[in-house]
Amino acid sequence: MRIAASLLLAVLALSTIPSNAQSSASSQVVAQTPPMGWNSWNYFAEKVTDKDIRASADQIVSTGMKDAGYVYVNIDDTWEGQRDANGVLHTNSKFPDMKALADYVHSKGLKIGIYSSPGPKTCAGFEASLGHEEQDAQLYASWGIDYLKYDLCSFIPAVMQKQAPNDKAAQMRLMIAAYDKMDKALKATGRPIVFSLCQYGWDSVWEWAPALGGNLWRTTGDINAHWDRIYAIVSQQSGLESYAGPGHWNDPDMLEVGNGKLSLAENRSHFSWWALLAAPLLAGNDLPNMKPEINAILTNRDVIAIDQDPLGQQGRHAYSDGEVEVWVRNLQGGALAIGVFNVGSDRYSTHPFHLNLAKLNLRANQTGKDLWTGKQVALTENEPIELPSHDVFLVRIDKPKQK
Ligand code: GLA
Repeated sequence: MRIAASLLLAVLALSTIPSNAQSSASSQVVAQTPPMGWNSWNYFAEKVTDKDIRASADQIVSTGMKDAGYVYVNIDDTWEGQRDANGVLHTNSKFPDMKALADYVHSKGLKIGIYSSPGPKTCAGFEASLGHEEQDAQLYASWGIDYLKYDLCSFIPAVMQKQAPNDKAAQMRLMIAAYDKMDKALKATGRPIVFSLCQYGWDSVWEWAPALGGNLWRTTGDINAHWDRIYAIVSQQSGLESYAGPGHWNDPDMLEVGNGKLSLAENRSHFSWWALLAAPLLAGNDLPNMKPEINAILTNRDVIAIDQDPLGQQGRHAYSDGEVEVWVRNLQGGALAIGVFNVGSDRYSTHPFHLNLAKLNLRANQTGKDLWTGKQVALTENEPIELPSHDVFLVRIDKPKQK
């Protein structure tokens, strides 16, 4: 009986997918390395317009970011208008013609992303996808959308709390079903669309998101451009390493590099951590007014290569010594990245700090490349490393000598 029921369900599921979509949907390969691009929220928030997206796409090309690997130009919340009598969602006046905008972004050799919620409203209170999932997915595909960030928000009060008050397990099932529904709707379009889950890292999302087609999932609440918030987010990533891999990534939120009052050291550390964490690299700064030193951080090819390493193995916090944290990431071909971070705020420098190679299972001496100075370095056992507050030493060792 049970087998018959699941067979029936399988047949039903298949019959809802147009036959031409089945083959292309099953061959969709996206996000084999963590997605790279730019998203409008962290700088523009609700003020973003069509003009800003075009200008950002132009800048991604002219600043060398495209050549360095940034490809997705993602519109976050507040593009949505109203639905018409047929339920078709229209853009609001800030985005007069989404198809034309997508064509423009594509003409630059880039891809375009969009945003919605499984609830009735988005987080900023705009029209979202509840009850219109298939229709919206088809609409995105008709515009040429390549990436969807799907943000839980109003689904919590409108569906989870309403339909299953005080029943956390049932609420979780409703949430999973909502993400599953949109994943199926996206796949049914036959267009490769990166599916980004945004539900703030609740209910061990990393355990179930990959199975229902999630290419990335937020592991935390929102980031902001302050060291304390960035460090708090980093501190929540330990233990999630095994869930990341090609096609499915932990997402500690979009980059704040170049935003707010982050110092250059803090921007370097933020970018280094995201690379060690195999995190999506979605810049979120004001690209037309980007300073050269911020551009240099975002386009540091050696650091990007750590993030985009094809092995796809997320790095981990190896050990701490006072206010110094040592992180490591295994890379393809047996190479290794080591990040030493001065997370302390009170003292100017880490002096005296000595890198303990034995704790990393390494023998002395090692040679590698300092990825922020570009210089070759030699590391002896107990190598003294002096770092100003919030700065990082990031080294790549291609042939580490194991203990
Ligand atoms: C939530 C998300 C943010 C952003 C806003 C938009 O807060 O976590 O990343 O998308 O919604 O309203």
